[in-house]
Amino acid sequence: MRDAQPKAIQLADYRAPAYEVTDTHLRFELHDGYTLVHSNLSLKQNGDETELLLNGQDLELISIKLDGKLLSEADYTTAEEALILSGLGASHTLEMTTRIYPEKNTALEGLYRSGGMYCTQCEAEGFRRITYYPDRPDVMSVFTTEIIADAARYPVLLSNGNPVSEKIEDGKKHVVWHDPHKKPAYLFALVAGDLQVRDDHFTTCSGREVLLRIFVEPQNVDKTEYALDALKRSMRWDEEVYGREYDLDIFMIVAVDDFNMGAMENKGLNIFNSSCVLANPATATDAAYQRIEAIVAHEYFHNWSGNRVTCRDWFQLSLKEGFTVFRDAGFSADMNSATVKRIEDATMLRTVQFAEDGGPMAHPVQPDSYIEISNFYTVTIYEKGAEVVGMLHKILGEEGFRKGSDLYFERHDGQAVTINEFVQAMEDANDVDLTQFRLWYKQSGTPVVEVLTQYDHAAERLTLNLRQYTPDTPGQTDKKPLWIPVQLGLIGHDGEDMEVRPDQPDFWTEDSQVLHFREAEQTFSFGGVVEEPVVSLFRDFSAPVRIHYQHSQSALRFMLQHDSDGFNRWDAGQQLMLHWIELAEKGRFKFTQDDIDALHTVINDVELDPAMVAYLLALPSESYIAESRPQYDPVAIHKAREQVMAALADTLSDDFKACYQRLNVSGDYQPVPEDMARRSLKNLALSYWAKADAEGVEAARLQFSSADNMTDQMAALRTLVAHGNQAEAEQALAEFYTQWQQDSLVVNQWLTVQCGSSKLGTPAHIRQLLEHEAFDWRNPNKVRSVIGAFANQALCHFHGADGEGYKLLADAVTRLNESNPQIASRLLTPLTRWKRLVPNQSQMMKSELQRIMDHGSLSKDVYEVVSKSLM
Ligand code: PHE
Ligand code: ZN
Repeated sequence: MRDAQPKAIQLADYRAPAYEVTDTHLRFELHDGYTLVHSNLSLKQNGDETELLLNGQDLELISIKLDGKLLSEADYTTAEEALILSGLGASHTLEMTTRIYPEKNTALEGLYRSGGMYCTQCEAEGFRRITYYPDRPDVMSVFTTEIIADAARYPVLLSNGNPVSEKIEDGKKHVVWHDPHKKPAYLFALVAGDLQVRDDHFTTCSGREVLLRIFVEPQNVDKTEYALDALKRSMRWDEEVYGREYDLDIFMIVAVDDFNMGAMENKGLNIFNSSCVLANPATATDAAYQRIEAIVAHEYFHNWSGNRVTCRDWFQLSLKEGFTVFRDAGFSADMNSATVKRIEDATMLRTVQFAEDGGPMAHPVQPDSYIEISNFYTVTIYEKGAEVVGMLHKILGEEGFRKGSDLYFERHDGQAVTINEFVQAMEDANDVDLTQFRLWYKQSGTPVVEVLTQYDHAAERLTLNLRQYTPDTPGQTDKKPLWIPVQLGLIGHDGEDMEVRPDQPDFWTEDSQVLHFREAEQTFSFGGVVEEPVVSLFRDFSAPVRIHYQHSQSALRFMLQHDSDGFNRWDAGQQLMLHWIELAEKGRFKFTQDDIDALHTVINDVELDPAMVAYLLALPSESYIAESRPQYDPVAIHKAREQVMAALADTLSDDFKACYQRLNVSGDYQPVPEDMARRSLKNLALSYWAKADAEGVEAARLQFSSADNMTDQMAALRTLVAHGNQAEAEQALAEFYTQWQQDSLVVNQWLTVQCGSSKLGTPAHIRQLLEHEAFDWRNPNKVRSVIGAFANQALCHFHGADGEGYKLLADAVTRLNESNPQIASRLLTPLTRWKRLVPNQSQMMKSELQRIMDHGSLSKDVYEVVSKSLM
C-alpha cells in the first residue's frame, strides 16, 4: 500500500548497475509461520560508482554483515523499499538474514504457500520480497541454494539447476541445489512440499540424457502425461527449428493451484498454474489440452529466449515475451492446423489487443514508462510483440529470420540485452536496414490501412492505392508511417490465384508474396491482369492493422468459398456475418439465397479440415463485434447476434443435424489434432441444432450424460445452458457439480459456464456464486472463473442497464486491492473501456472507477490503471 502518489519509472533513466553479484548463496529455513533467509553475495564493482542499492519489500532485516563485519543502522541508509550501502570498493562479501512470512503472503509474489506447499514467483519484482538484493534483470549471478525443512511434511525440496547434496538431520531435510548458468533473480525458484513425481527422459540432439520430472500433489498424478509429451515435442522442435539444445541434466515442472499467471520459466524449474499443465480426458477439454501444449512449449522455449539471453530492464519485456509467443505459435501451428492457429491468434489480437490500443492503458511494444511493471504483462507486450516478430519473419523470409535468430543467440548468450539488439542481429545477418521497422516497437496504437482499388479492363491494369495512419494514443501523437508487409493475392473468376507482378519490384518479395507498404500513401500497379480480380489483402493476417476496404457482398461470398488463403477465407465469412448483424440491429436482416448457398457449401465441404469448417460457421463474438465499432451498445449487439444465430440455426438445421450425426462417432478419446477437429465441428453443429430444435436439445442431454470425456460433456453442458430451458440447464449444472465437486479445476469450468453465460450470468447469480462453497477469493483461478468470466463474456449482463454489473466488478476490485493487487488490477480491464460505450453505460462505468479511486490506499497496480483510466 502506498501513502504518496507512486512515481513512474522511465526507460530514459536507465543506468547500468554499480555492482555485479558474481555469486549468490542462499539458505532457506522453512519454519511454521515464518521463514529465515540467509544470503551471501559476492559483489564486484562495475564502473566507478560506489553506491549499491538493494531492493527489499515487506522484509524483516535481522542482520547484515559486510566482509564479515556486522553493520549497524548507521552503516547503511534505508529508502522506500530499498537498502543502500555507500562508499564501497572494488569487491565485497555481503551477508544478510531476513525473516519473511510466506503464510501471510496473499499477493502470491515472492515466497508463499499454496495449499500444503511452498512456492515462489519472482518475475518481475518478487525476489525483493525474499531478501535484499539488486532485483533487476541485468544483474546476473550464479545461484547456490540450500533448503532446510521438516522432512516428513516437505520431503520434496526443489530449486534451480542440479541437485548437489541431500541429508536428513534431526527430522529436518537439507538439500543443496546449484545452477551453473548465471541468471537474474527473477528466474530464481524454490518449491517445498509433499509432492508426487512422474519422470521421463529426453535425449538431446548431441546425445545428452535429460531427466524430465513433473511434480504434483498426489491426487493429480494421473494428469501429468500430456504435459510430459508436449515437453518432449517442444524440446525436439526447438532443436530442429531453431537449433537450440537444452543445457542442464534435469528439467522440472511443478503444478501449483494458487498462481497469478499461467506459468513461469524459472531456470530448470518451471512453475505452472495447475490449470495450464494438468489434464486427463475425463477432466480437461480439447481447448485445455491445446493450451497446455502451447504453455509448456512457451515456458520451455524461454530457456533460450529469456533465460540464456535475457532482458536488460523491464521495458524490454517483449524481447523475451514477444519472441517466445512467436516461437510457441510456430510450434502449435506445426503440431496442429496452422490456419486455425492463425485465426485464433488474429481473433485474440483484434478483440483484446486492439481494445487495449483504443483504451487508456495503450502502450508501445517497448513502453517508455510505467508505474507498476506487473501491469505491463499485456496483450500488447505478448501478442502484438509476437506479431511484430512475425512481420520480421515475413520480411526476411524463413531462412533470413533463422540466420538472424542464430546470430542473436550466439552474440548475446549469457547477456541481458535490449529489443534493439534483437533487431540489430536481424539486420546484421541479412544486411537490411530496419530503421523504419523499429517504429513498430515505439509507436502505440493500431494502424489503419485504407485501400482503394481500380481496374482498367482495356489496359489490363490493376491499381492499388494504400493509405496508412495511426490514431493518437495517450501521450503519443503525430505518428510516422510504418513498414507494413501486405501479403497479397489476386483471385480470378475461376477461383484460382493469378500471377502478381507489381510495376514496383523493389517493393515486392516474390517468395512470400509480400508488398512492402512503407509510406503514408503509396500506389502500386499491376500489369497483365486480364480480368478484374478479387483482391485478397493481408493474407495470413500479415500485419496487425485495421483494414478499411469495402469488398462487395458477392466478393466476400466468393472469397469464403475460394480464397486459397485459409485465413482470408475465414475473414471473408466474418465480414459477411458482421454485416448481417449490423442489418439485424437495424431491423433489416434477412438471408439471401446466395448467403444460404455459400453457407451450404461450407458446411457440406467434407474435404476441408473440420476445425476450419467450425470456425467458418461460428459467428464473431460479441467483443469482436464491439471492437469493430467506434462506440457500442453491448445489449443491442447481443440481441442482433442472437437473431442472426437463430436464423442461421433455422436455415441450416437439417445440415447441422446431419453434420452432428455424421461426426458423433464413438471411440477412445485422444487429444490428437484430427479428433479435436472433428469434435469441434460436431459440438458446434450440436449447439446450432439445439438452438433451432428441441430434438437438438435432447441430443445434447444424451451427450451430456453419456460423454466419456470433458470436451463432449462440457460442450453439451454449454449447449444446455445456452439453448435448453431453465429447468434443463439447472438440472445439468446440478448433476455436473455433484459429479465433479472434488476436482477444483473442473469446478472452475463449471463456474465459468454459468458466469460467462448470457442467460445465467446475471449480477444476482454471480453474487450468489461468490458465497458458494466452491468459491475462494484467495485463489486467482476461482476469481477469474467467476468475476473474470462475468465481466468479459456475459457482456449483456455486465453492461446491464441498472449498472449492477459495474458495481459488482468495482466491489471485487476494491476487495482484492489489498490481498492480491495484481489480480485486482487485471480484473479492472473491462471498466477501463468506458469511453467506448454508449453514454448511459459510459457514465455509470466512470463513476465506478471514481468510486475505486476514492477508496484510497490503493495498491500501485490498481492506482495506475484507475488513474490512467480517469485521465
Ligand atoms: N514470464 C511468464 C511467462 O511466460 C509470465 C509471468 C509473468 C508469470 C509474471 C508470472 C509472473 O510468460
Ligand atoms: Zn513468457
